[in-house]
Amino acid sequence: MITSEAVPWAKAGGLADAVSALAQELDHSGHDVRILMPRYQGIRRDSLYRYPTPFTVRVGEEIYTTAVYEGRLGDSSVVVYFIDYEELYAREGIYGAGGSGYPDNLRRFSLLNHAAFAIGAFIGWEPDVLHSHDWPAAIVPVIAQRRRAMGAPGPATVLTIHNVGYQGTFPVGDLPHSGLSWIDLSESQLLHYDSLNLLKAGIVNADMVTTVSPQYANEIRTPRRGFSLDKVLSGKDERFVGILNGVDYEVWNPEKDPYLDAKYTPETVALKDRAKQTIQSELGLPITNDLPLIGMVSRLVDQKGFEELSSPGFGALPDILESGETQVAILGSGDERYEYYLRTLAHRYRNLSVVIGFDDRLAHLIEAASDFFLMPSRYEPCGLNQLYSLRYGTLPIVTRCGGFVDTVEPVSARGGTGFFIDEACPSAIGSTVLAAVGMWHRERARIDTMRRAAMKMRFGWERAAAEYVSVYERALAAARGGPGA
Ligand code: ADP
Ligand code: GLC
Repeated sequence: MITSEAVPWAKAGGLADAVSALAQELDHSGHDVRILMPRYQGIRRDSLYRYPTPFTVRVGEEIYTTAVYEGRLGDSSVVVYFIDYEELYAREGIYGAGGSGYPDNLRRFSLLNHAAFAIGAFIGWEPDVLHSHDWPAAIVPVIAQRRRAMGAPGPATVLTIHNVGYQGTFPVGDLPHSGLSWIDLSESQLLHYDSLNLLKAGIVNADMVTTVSPQYANEIRTPRRGFSLDKVLSGKDERFVGILNGVDYEVWNPEKDPYLDAKYTPETVALKDRAKQTIQSELGLPITNDLPLIGMVSRLVDQKGFEELSSPGFGALPDILESGETQVAILGSGDERYEYYLRTLAHRYRNLSVVIGFDDRLAHLIEAASDFFLMPSRYEPCGLNQLYSLRYGTLPIVTRCGGFVDTVEPVSARGGTGFFIDEACPSAIGSTVLAAVGMWHRERARIDTMRRAAMKMRFGWERAAAEYVSVYERALAAARGGPGA
């Protein structure tokens, strides 16, 4: 797997969780899985093995002399190779700083992609399948096709799209940094609306393309949600499928979460109140059991609905807070604009607490402490937090899109596991949240029933891993031009 993120080493969002969990699950079922990623500044070298010889990678006209470090993923036998090249990777951010990308991202990630081919001879191991995640690894399928065209047999390629909103677009003049050639610069390949578009080129060339939920796979084949790649995706026909992400229940489980003083099961779900008190006192919210707590843990970006939620003048949060019926705790980082709006609101409302930053412990505590988990996303490829919420008995309030549709059951007379916002607009967000909060105040038994149902849902990685294996087989068949091609 070629990736820009993998827990526990580098995480900006769910991609990091998904890559590591999938790799581990495949490892458990007997596959030999290895991960290739950059060694960013935050990844300490002292716990890793360093290969004694330098590793050279050619990217077009440039030759990079790098070092390779090796580590292990948890207690699995998944080997992780880190490309160490200080000038490009030894920075604080994964993609950039202060909400904008690093100007040399094309160089940074092109090196990673070309390294995926050079490293086989270096370590003495060649995979059957190269599995790329998102645009930072999307050049891999292009290189594989070029090598095949020159008669070099190579691995099959699979590209997983975790978010079609991020495509890796660069000015055409930067092409030499990609190590690809001017011949690749056509509308049917790298070129897309006058820019280089790595994700598009990856989609076109991959033997199989996947995305992270079946519903999102359907949505991004349409102009409304495809971010201009809908036709390219439709063109893949049967070679494009949606596979729902899973949850690593070793990490996200209220029965053994090390961050919780009082662990709980569906039968002892009332113990959530202890986590609630901890959060209330830590975040400076009034300590009370008479109000429900709404939690959010999120990248603060347009995709996640923060415009609709927090924009001065029309955002939904003030109405929700002024009802006096609920408390809200938000943990996030991202666009400075949203950080500012949220801080301003937290100043004004005592029942809102905002923590700007990235904090794994607090993320677990908010999942456990909250009664509801709010995700008013404009679109959501899969979404992991609503899956964690279900396991923690924290009812998700989500928009009717993407992975939410595949994972949350709408509240009904018969039960359900969460609440759907019909449209990602401030009034619909406000009214759905207040309806859920109203149910907490007036029909608590119903909430408790939904909670227990939510906690019993399972979205394990076993199923997803089995689906990926069949995608790998189809990719292999396609690469050989055999059945399924
Ligand atoms: P996305 O990948 O689009 O950000 P997901 O719901 O799939 O959305 O995954 C987000 C992941 O990142 C979750 O594991 C969530 O807990 C974590 N996360 C997001 N923001 C923060 C933060 N500020 N602190 C800690 N964890 C965070
Ligand atoms: C992306 C998506 C998110 C998904 C995650 C893991 O970041 O935004 O919906 O859960 O990748 O696949």
